[in-house]
Parts: sequence; structure tokens; C-alpha cells
Amino acid sequence: MEKGVFSATASIICLVLLFVRTSLGDISYTVAEEVKRQHVIGNLAKDLGLDPKKMSARKARLDAEDNSRRCCEINPDTGNLIVVETIDREDLCGSKVICTLTYELLLENPLELHRISLRIQDINDNPPKFLNDLISLEITEAAVKGTRFPLEEAHDADIGQNTVQGYSLEKNDYFILSVRENADGGKYGELVLDKELDREQNHEVNLILTATDGGMPPKTGTALIHVTVLDANDNVPVFTQDVYKVGLQENAAVGTVVTAVNATDADEGANGEITYEFSRISDKAAKLFLIDKTTGQIKLRGELDYEEETYYELRVQAKDSSGLASSAKIIIEVVDVNDNAPKIVIKSLNDPLPESVDRGTEVGIINVQDKDSGSNGQVRCSVKHTVPFKLNPSIKNYYSLITTAELDREQVKDYNITITATDAGNPPLSSSKTIHLKISDVNDNPPVFEEHSYSAFVMENNKPGASICSVSAKDPDWKQNGTVFYTLMSSEVNGIPVSSFLSINRELGVIHAVKSFDHEQLRGFKVQVLARDNGSPPLSSNVTLSVFVMDENDNSPQILYPIPEGKSFMTEMIPKNAFLGSLVSKVIAVDADSGHNAWLSYQIIKSTDPGLFTIGLHSGEIRTLRDISVSDAVKQNLVISVKDDGRPSLTSTCTVHLLISDDLSEVPEINNVFSEDRNSNVTPYLVIALVSVSAFFLIFIIVLLAMRTCLRKKPRLSFDGTLAIPSCSFPRNYADVEGTGTIHSAYNYDTYLTTGSHTSDFKFVGSYEAFSL
Ligand SMILES: *[C@@H]1O[C@H](CO)[C@@H](O)[C@H](O)[C@H]1NC(C)=O
Ligand SMILES: *[C@@H]1O[C@H](CO)[C@@H](O)[C@H](O)[C@H]1NC(C)=O
Ligand SMILES: *[C@@H]1O[C@H](CO)[C@@H](O)[C@H](O)[C@H]1NC(C)=O
Ligand SMILES: *[C@@H]1O[C@H](CO)[C@@H](O)[C@H](O)[C@H]1NC(C)=O
Repeated sequence: MEKGVFSATASIICLVLLFVRTSLGDISYTVAEEVKRQHVIGNLAKDLGLDPKKMSARKARLDAEDNSRRCCEINPDTGNLIVVETIDREDLCGSKVICTLTYELLLENPLELHRISLRIQDINDNPPKFLNDLISLEITEAAVKGTRFPLEEAHDADIGQNTVQGYSLEKNDYFILSVRENADGGKYGELVLDKELDREQNHEVNLILTATDGGMPPKTGTALIHVTVLDANDNVPVFTQDVYKVGLQENAAVGTVVTAVNATDADEGANGEITYEFSRISDKAAKLFLIDKTTGQIKLRGELDYEEETYYELRVQAKDSSGLASSAKIIIEVVDVNDNAPKIVIKSLNDPLPESVDRGTEVGIINVQDKDSGSNGQVRCSVKHTVPFKLNPSIKNYYSLITTAELDREQVKDYNITITATDAGNPPLSSSKTIHLKISDVNDNPPVFEEHSYSAFVMENNKPGASICSVSAKDPDWKQNGTVFYTLMSSEVNGIPVSSFLSINRELGVIHAVKSFDHEQLRGFKVQVLARDNGSPPLSSNVTLSVFVMDENDNSPQILYPIPEGKSFMTEMIPKNAFLGSLVSKVIAVDADSGHNAWLSYQIIKSTDPGLFTIGLHSGEIRTLRDISVSDAVKQNLVISVKDDGRPSLTSTCTVHLLISDDLSEVPEINNVFSEDRNSNVTPYLVIALVSVSAFFLIFIIVLLAMRTCLRKKPRLSFDGTLAIPSCSFPRNYADVEGTGTIHSAYNYDTYLTTGSHTSDFKFVGSYEAFSL
């Protein structure tokens, strides 16, 4: 402003000098530019001492010296120099500091020439002006504080004080203005960075720059500074999350997008172009995951397995083109899917299992594994109820297989135990395993005979060595435990070892007779057959074999009375007055055989007088058929046959001699006959002796019974009638038959001495025990 005041003062001084003659003939004026037309600069007439009235007569005129521009003219009437055209100093002189127009005043008559110089004074009529209204600047954000950016100078057509004197800058955050002067004195501004730029905050700054001149009043000119903030790669890429955490099902298909990382770089262009890559990844994870370099998508490239790895931690790096990088963590948690069926492992198995084990015995140990976790890995294990086994849970995932019943190999020799394991997943998976368990044998079954007892019926007179029967025992045990051997248990039959009667085939159980049996000697016997298995220890059982020796008709009837001819001679006497039906005599015969073979029948096959006697068919009693008459012959002979009922039957014959007489002495021939026979004389004595011996014997027995006070049965030894049978006449072996004693009463055979008569003269029934007395 001081400069402005000073210039105003100077211009006043110039106006004072306006009227000062500079030189004779020359005159100088000063005029400000832009004065109004008709403005009187000065009076030339007066200033030159000329007569104003003569001015026009002398044709006063003004000639421009160098240029044709004629801003002023002379008024010939007044001699005033007046402005005829607006004077623009800037137009006339440009930037020249001194702007002077020179004119010549020409007068005629006489010719007079005066130089008139018109100095044009500047006024502040032009504002400062920038070359461009818009100043574009590009400043990198990396520019440091204090960096200067020279701005173009503003121009002002005015000169001196009226030219640009200063600049001002709109208030802003980033820049301040520094005004400087260049070598030619021109002033220009410089933007000074006061605060660092951040393209990411403000990518452009607009400022108004004002240039001010020194006029009074000052004029201003403005320009817009457009600062474009250039990017510097000053930003690292930034991930949207520090940690990306994802859950991924283990059965996710290959190609599944696991997650997408996203990093942004505030920088622009190449500086903001991000590529992604794994910066830290395990080899295992590298096989499973891949990342898209540009999109940041992480995809699954392999198959996951929760059971192998439940958790992956990766690092992803985002890098811009110039290499600034940052990283983020990716946590991939594998989510378990029930994709593993339980696995059944048999840890131990007691195979084969002896059948003798108790109920509740541990047979094996089962382990169940399920690789899945949580409920997917919780396994229940069971055995079908059809087998006598169950699973007892023991320590974690271990089960013991135990028996729930007693086992019997002979019923079930192996079991298929199906174990089923099911997990608790949804849907549940299950698996099963079949254990083939064999039951091994224990010798727990004795051989068992097929029948309770065996009977063998052997015809007497058999061939020695012939098989008579076979026994068989079964043992359901296995191999040697079930192999049966047969033996005869040692015992005696009538004091003779049984081995001399029978032998047995050790393996087959076929029993052979060792010798020929005789029914009359041995009716039968019993023997124990032992079946023994080959186990250790062996088991055995025994059975009774009853051997019955069957009768064959091999003995002909034996006539006891009358004593056969040749040995003795006996004659029966018949009283002469005997009536019809009188018992005359009796034939006594025995047969060593049994049953029908010993059932005897009697027949008269030849007689002296066929109509006189008859014989009882089975009693053997000879009776008269009619009364004896005097005419009948004294000597009567009867030939009698005794026949048993065997097939074929055997027959014996005897002759009965009868004498019809009241007195033995009447028949001398007979007497002779009697005297001839020694035995006939002793017969009465024999009878007396027999009776007395028998009596003595009876007394002896009674005494013995009394002594023993025993209730044993009296032997029924009876005598009937007058007939007496000598005991010595019985066949010896006949008594022996009864004496074998081993056959119980059920098997007793009545011995027929004589049969068919109610009044049996002699019937011998008794037990061996009775005779043992
Ligand atoms: C990344 O994040 C930015 C900002 O949150 C978002 O504008 C852009 O769409 C995202 N890019 C992708 C690929 O998701
Ligand atoms: C057990 O299974 C086998 C083979 O599958 C079969 O041959 C056998 O008969 C089965 N045994 C039982 C007792 O079911
Ligand atoms: C027979 O039984 C015994 C136990 O009594 C046993 O040890 C043996 O193994 C069995 N023999 C066979 C061939 O099974
Ligand atoms: C024969 O069997 C019976 C029962 O069956 C038994 O009491 C006896 O002891 C057995 N004898 C022998 C020698 O085994």
C-alpha cells in the first residue's frame, strides 16, 4: 500500500509539471491514460505564447511523429489540446515503463513547428491475469513436507506499482504459499507442502490462487490450482479379516470353495493389484487346498479326512505388484461326517472251545473301533440272540464274548457268532463280523447200549465159534472219545470162567459161542457186556446179556419103571376079581429134554389080550378095560411105547409083565422067574431100606430146620401110593439141571416126570436152594 501511496504522490507531481515548458519550442504534457474524451490536456496557445485568435488562421494542426494513432487533437479555436480517443497506455506502450507520445504542432504563416511530447501515465486499469485459469499440478503422495511447487506467474498489463505485487492462496490443509521474485523482478508463487498428501484420503486438492497488484484500489486475478495426488505405493494390501475361520465337512467334494480371502489395497492401478498365494502351508495342506491367485478363492483339490487331520492352519499372503505384502491366517476346521463304519477286531478267541466250559466263560475279546468322533464314533455292539453267547462291555471299546448257556458239542458242534456294531451317527453305520467258533470234544458221554438188555437164544448142540448175537453201543463223542470197545466182564458160570463160554469181538460187539452148549446141562446164564470208549479217562457202561440155551429133542424118553429088561425083571400081580377100571400098574418115564420134547405120551403097542388093558395117554396108568374073567390067560404081557412130543419125536419102549393071580405061589413059572432074578429077592429089602433112609433123611431135615429156625421151604418130596421109586434110578445130570441155579424162577421149567394126571405119583419141583440144604 505504501507503494501505491507513493505512486499517487508522483502522479500529482507530474500534473504540476504539465505546464512547465521543457524547452523553447518544445512543450511536454503528461496525461493519465483512460481519460475522458474532450479532456483538455493543456492550452497550447497559451503555453507557446501564441495568439489563440490566430491559431485557426494559421491553420494550426497536430501531426503525429511516429505513429498514426492520434489520441489527441488541437482545438484551433481555443488552442486547447484535447483527448479525442481513449488512451490505453498498455495498448500504446505495452510494458514500457515510460510511455510518451510525440506530436508536432505545425503553424503556417509563418511556418512554425513545435514539438509536443505527451507522456502517458499509467493507471491501474488491468487486473493481474494468469495465463491459464486452471493450473493443474500432479503431486505424488510420497512428496515430503516442504517440497516446493513453483506456480506460474500472473501477469498484469499495468506497470510499476500496478503490476502484480503479491499472491494469496485459499486456506487449505496441505499447502502454504510462498511468493518469490524472479530475476526480472516478477513475482511468482510457490506451493509449499505443509502436510503430506494422502491419495487414499484425498486424491485431489483444488485451491484458488489470487494474484494482487499494487494499484489503488488493487485489482486481483485468480486461478484454480488443481492438484492431482499421485499414488505412491504406500499401502500394503489389507485383508478384510485377520483370521478366516471356516468349517468344512470332511466329505466335501473336490472343487468345493472353502472360503475366499479378500484383501484390498488402497493404492491404485498396479500398486493396488493384488495377487494371493499361500505363504505358509504344510505339505499335507498343500495337497488339499489351492488358492486362486487373483480372486483369493481357496478351493479343495483333494479329499479330506477328519480322521487324518481335523484342523488346518494356512497363511495367505496378498501381494501387490511392487511387492508389498501382508498375510492372514486361515483356519479350516474339518467337520466330522459319519463316514466310517465301526470296525470289529477280534483280539483273542478261544477256538476251539471245549464243550465243558461253564456258563459265563469268556471266549474271546472283541475290540470295536470307529474312527469318527463324537456320536459318530459311539458304537453299540451286540450278538444275535440265536446263539448262546453275548457281549459284555468291559473297558472302553472292548467287549468280552461270554457264553450264556452250557454247551454240548454233541448237539451243536460249531457256532457262527455274528457280531454287529452300530454307531450313533445319523444315519448310523454298522458292520458285522462272523466268528466261526468250533466246539471241541470232551469225553462227557459214556457209550450207551442200544437196548436195555440183550437176550440170545442159542440152540443146544451149536457149533463152537458160531456167532450168537451182537451188541452195539453208541457214543456221540468225537473220535477216540466216541470209539467204543466191547469186553465181557469176567464172571463165572458154574465155577467156570465165562470166557470159556463166550467171546466178543472187541470192535464189532459180535458175540461168539466158544463151545457147544447142552441145554440139559446149562439152561442159560447171564453175562455183563462192557462198552468202553477210548477217552482219557474212559467212560463205560454195561448191559446184561442173557443167554438162553434152547432145547433140542436130543434125549429119548427114559423109562424108570418098569426097569428095562435085562437089568431087572418085574411082574405086576392082578387080583383075579379085579373090576373094570382097576389100576393095574403105571409106567414111569422121564425125558431129559424140556417142554414138548419132554412131554411124554404112552401107548400100548402090543398086548396079549388087546381088549383087557388100557393105558392113560399121559399118565401111563394101566387099568383094566373090563372085569377079569376066569377065562383070561394068567400071564399077560404089554409092550408100551413112550414117545415124547419133540419134532421129530423120540420113542422108547418097555414091556410090562402082568400076572392074574391072587397068590404068587400059584404060578410056579413065575416063581422061577423071580428066583432067577437076584434083584427080585432084594426088592422088599430095598423098599424097606429106602423108606427108612428117607425117614431118617426127613427127620434130619426137620432137626436142621428147627436148628436154623429158618423159614425155608420144605422140599416137596412126596410119595403116593404103594409105588416106590429108587432115587438112584434118576439120571444124575437130571438133578444137575435144577442145580445150575442161575436161572431164576421165571425161567424154570417144570420137569415132567409124569404129566397129565391129577394124582401125580411123583412130581419133582424145587429150587436149587432147597437142595443145597
Ligand atoms: C472385498 O472387500 C471389498 C471391501 O469390503 C469389497 O468391496 C469387495 O467386493 C470384496 N471382494 C470380493 C471378491 O469379495
Ligand atoms: C457257519 O457259516 C459257514 C460258512 O458261512 C457255514 O458253512 C456253516 O454251515 C455255518 N454254521 C452254522 C452252525 O450255521
Ligand atoms: C477227548 O476228550 C478229552 C477230554 O475228556 C479231550 O482233551 C480230547 O481233546 C478229546 N479228544 C478229541 C479227539 O476230541
Ligand atoms: C454196570 O452198570 C451198573 C448200572 O448200570 C453199575 O452200577 C455198575 O457199576 C456197572 N458195573 C461196572 C463194572 O461197570
